[in-house]
Amino acid sequence: MDIQNTVSVIGSGTMGNGIAHVFSMCSKITQVVLVDLNDSILNQAKLIIKKNMDRQIKKNIINKEQAENAYNKILFTNDIGNINHSDLVIEAVKEDADIKAAVFSNIDKLTSSDCILASNTSSISINQIANSTKKPQNVIGMHFMNPVPIMKLVEIIKGTKTDNSVVKKTLDYVNLINKTPVECNDAPGFVSNRILMPMINEAAFTYMENIASVDAIDSIMMLGMGHPMGPLKLADLIGIDVCVSIMDVLYEGFKDEKYKACPILNEMIQNNKLGMKSGEGFYKY
Ligand SMILES: NC(=O)c1ccc[n+]([C@@H]2O[C@H](COP(=O)([O-])OP(=O)(O)OC[C@H]3O[C@@H](n4cnc5c(N)ncnc54)[C@H](O)[C@@H]3O)[C@@H](O)[C@H]2O)c1
Repeated sequence: MDIQNTVSVIGSGTMGNGIAHVFSMCSKITQVVLVDLNDSILNQAKLIIKKNMDRQIKKNIINKEQAENAYNKILFTNDIGNINHSDLVIEAVKEDADIKAAVFSNIDKLTSSDCILASNTSSISINQIANSTKKPQNVIGMHFMNPVPIMKLVEIIKGTKTDNSVVKKTLDYVNLINKTPVECNDAPGFVSNRILMPMINEAAFTYMENIASVDAIDSIMMLGMGHPMGPLKLADLIGIDVCVSIMDVLYEGFKDEKYKACPILNEMIQNNKLGMKSGEGFYKY
């Protein structure tokens, strides 16, 4: 396998710190560059990665030495120039097409002609993202699931111009970190969020219309449908803002009213009830 060894991750939030974590654990990867806007955000990411590695030590998944080696491979930086030697860059910034376009235009300029440019977007078109670069053949969707250190799936989204060799290498990277890649084509929400997000949105409507309490809605879906986590708890885990951004992309992409975000979700954003990351969403943390 022709895997190179420097991986960069742009954005150290919920997903970015998890992606940096799993690549740092891989013996074939020698450096992980984790980029965010400022030191205070990066310090938060350091704490989360340490805490998650400690949890893995307690569960005997890794030992202390492996955790230290992995952690020491991560360069936490607010200077995006540090990604210039990367073989694979994974973008995990906010779910906003304009912000992603600006980030991709920048990483395109900073990286070599054979660097893979991947996006962890949950819903935004890979073709649209690829258009903001001069190497659309290198652009691919690498959609990790939350929480990244635990979830096995990485949804691989092929753009119309994505080169087959880039798809092959990306599958190799995913296998290397012991996750399972599943391929699909580019469409709003791809497969996972086209199916998951309308369910979460409908659960929010069910709560807003006072059909049942938060606990009852989640219990019905867990006990009745065998879901490991109820849809409202899952919305809190994903982030209410992220859920609304994905619904907006589905709505814009399909031009269908059925994808309109539930008003209660927008209200929650206005009140900073973003879910686990802000301490309150449908539940308190
Ligand atoms: N949260 C989820 O469950 C989930 C699951 C799968 C995919 N995603 C996708 O992953 C991406 C990130 O989501 P998240 O939940 O981690 O968001 P988040 O808000 O937790 O983190 C985003 C991070 O990006 C940083 N950032 C913003 N602009 C930047 C820039 N120009 N350069 C460097 N860093 C920048 C922010 O400071 C923040 O730390 C989104 O596209 C989202 O749709 C999220």
